[in-house]
Amino acid sequence: MKVTAIAPSNIAFIKYWGKKDERLRLPANASISMNLSHLKTTTTVEFLSKYKEDEVIINEEKEEKQQLRVVKHLDRIRKLARLNFKAKVVSKSNFPISTGLSSSASGFAALTLAASKAAGLNLSEKKLSILARQASGSACRSIPDGFVEWLDGTNETSYAVSLFPPDWWSIADVVVIVSQEKKEVSSTEGQKLAKTSPFFPERLKRIKRKTTLLKKWLKEKNFPKFGQLIEEEALELHAIMLTSTPSLIYWQPGTITLMKLVKRLRNKGLPVYFTINTGQDVHLIVEKDNIKTLVERLKEVKEIKDIIVNFPSTGARIVNYHLF
Ligand code: PMV
Repeated sequence: MKVTAIAPSNIAFIKYWGKKDERLRLPANASISMNLSHLKTTTTVEFLSKYKEDEVIINEEKEEKQQLRVVKHLDRIRKLARLNFKAKVVSKSNFPISTGLSSSASGFAALTLAASKAAGLNLSEKKLSILARQASGSACRSIPDGFVEWLDGTNETSYAVSLFPPDWWSIADVVVIVSQEKKEVSSTEGQKLAKTSPFFPERLKRIKRKTTLLKKWLKEKNFPKFGQLIEEEALELHAIMLTSTPSLIYWQPGTITLMKLVKRLRNKGLPVYFTINTGQDVHLIVEKDNIKTLVERLKEVKEIKDIIVNFPSTGARIVNYHLF
């Protein structure tokens, strides 16, 4: 059977950085994110006896490292479904990959849903999230809808659940692309260095309290408190990266220009906060009513290559069209 799924990327407000189990991809801490309406990956999968090899085409390319990671995930699914057939996989993202916009989250969430269905499995949201997690940590958060928490736990208890549906809060993530350049160190590789930072144990000591507070601001829709906390969290993530051995510096000049601009805009009365992942691009979190004013102000910044406005979105879904 040929099955196609579409899944959103997500932006983490409390970050996943560092693992307590490398093989099972169990995170050092729980994380919280929002699914993004305009950063999506669509993936079609078909298992057939006539295929001699797995064929994997991602954004019209056959890149070896990506192919190996996809085949490893197909193997997990084949094992679950007791299936021997090889597969054809075609995947397309509508945004630049490897620049810090979490294409592995949308990519592996879409692949997990499409491939498991194509293999004849009918997995629950929880099982899909556990399976997606094993391929890419943040992918488990792209399975459920809206505002999501990825629970810290064991192999069977570490999965993502929806905290609130997409229409819970009218906020937006204005994604600002400052460079299309691909990052030199992937998040998978970067994650391994977290524990080399002298500040990592301190982060873990305080992270539970931070997560509880973030959920409170989210529930109460307290935008200034929420914004301040997510910005502090992004800077803490980058403090860990900067102080790892070897150090990880993902920022580009445009990243810093935007971080400074956000502070200036706030001082002038526009409530906007930033967050950044493993990459140079910046996520500006703003209430829906202020999007227009923000986008207008961004026009002054010469480093900006593109702007993608995102609203909270549903999670992974099956669709009835195919990419081949
Ligand atoms: O799931 P990965 O290995 O791509 O790691 C994601 C890491 C961050 O984007 C920096 C944080 C997060 O929680 O999404």
